[in-house]
Amino acid sequence: MSDEELQPIKGMSDLGPPDIQLWQQLESSARDVLQLYGFQEVRTPIVEKAAVFVRSLGDGTDVVQKEMYTLTSRDGKDQYAIRPEGTAGVIRYVASLGQEAQGARFYYLGPMFRGERPQKGRRRQFHQLGAEAIGPSSPASDAEMIALHAHLLRNWGLKDFRISLNTRGLPEDRLAVQQGLSAALAPHAAQLCEECQRRLQANVLRVLDCKNEACKAIVASVPPVTAFMAPESRAYLDEVVRLLRLLELEVTVNPALVRGLDYYLHTVWEIAHPALGAQDAIAGGGRYRLTFGGREVEGVGFAIGLERAIMAVQHDVPAAPPARRQAAWIVSLGDRAFEENLRLLQTLRQHGVASGMDLGRRSMKAQMRAADRSLSAFVVVRGDSELDKGTFMLKDLGTGQQVEVELPELIERLRPRVVSL
Ligand code: HAM
Repeated sequence: MSDEELQPIKGMSDLGPPDIQLWQQLESSARDVLQLYGFQEVRTPIVEKAAVFVRSLGDGTDVVQKEMYTLTSRDGKDQYAIRPEGTAGVIRYVASLGQEAQGARFYYLGPMFRGERPQKGRRRQFHQLGAEAIGPSSPASDAEMIALHAHLLRNWGLKDFRISLNTRGLPEDRLAVQQGLSAALAPHAAQLCEECQRRLQANVLRVLDCKNEACKAIVASVPPVTAFMAPESRAYLDEVVRLLRLLELEVTVNPALVRGLDYYLHTVWEIAHPALGAQDAIAGGGRYRLTFGGREVEGVGFAIGLERAIMAVQHDVPAAPPARRQAAWIVSLGDRAFEENLRLLQTLRQHGVASGMDLGRRSMKAQMRAADRSLSAFVVVRGDSELDKGTFMLKDLGTGQQVEVELPELIERLRPRVVSL
């Protein structure tokens, strides 16, 4: 068999022990925090009609144009897409709920797919933890979502993240912003990179997040997007910033932050971590308005890229020692003990004691090796003499201490050891 056959598709990863433990810890801490803010989980399909994303994210966006994986139905009539993000599917679901959905708060967690060129922090399959709060525009609900976002990250032990904020204004501002920016950038067109010269015509906002140094300098010299917006849009952003200060959250207004999706209006934000290099955005969010089946839904939300967040956690939080997985490993001396121990294994598990034993009737040495591998806290040894007395030899692998006990005491001693990851 070649090595290649053993690998998943480029840009996608297998996820197993020991890394999965950290994923599970972060997921469970996130669920606790989301519950504090009144969010409930939703699971929407991974494959949707392509139009769900094309109409929501925008036809001209990079995600739709260059990165979305699409499928054609077997009869060739329908176009589907493997979800590149979670918001569009969740809001389609919210719209299907009708009036009931006003004020709904949903979170989701799962794989997303984008056909990008893989590099550190950029995967073709990655995972997002996202949250969406449905309701009309209000600076306080945007501020609350940013506070929740920071709460989640801080609860994971992240310290060194930075929140930057901007506004996309109202849909009515869009034309004025495009025209104003195009006019301001036009005199510098020749100094812009080739890609930005094209963007100047196709999607001028995208010039603002170009990484090229020359483009960045030009962008810094032209008025910020807010200069072309209606006063209400600027006031909305100011109010969000004021409320975030009230909540003692440190944020920086970055006039060049645009976010690459068309559904946004008013507040947009991004959270970056300096240890991650080029792909330093661990999360992004904003307020949006989407229409499905003639029903308009407004909300505010965010998504955390879990692979990137985990790299940041591994940087900021000292590695925890491997958790012990089992409370007890049962070791059998002799054939009689083996069968009695099979029954014991069942009894212990029925009493909530995480336990295991070697099922291959192997030597004592092999059984002890398996005990080691299982990371058990205790071993329970039984041979003929224990069977005759009706006792169990219980050894604490941490301290080396050994006691001989009967069944009720055995269960009592092991039960508090039910291990949570
Ligand atoms: P997004 O900024 O496209 O926003 O993605 C959110 C996060 O997903 C990014 O900050 C990043 O951490 C992670 N991410 C994106 N692409 C990749 C990739 N190829 N490999 C690894 N991680 C990646 C959204 O998706 C919006 N739906 C967020 C939102 C929710 N806005 C409102 N509600």
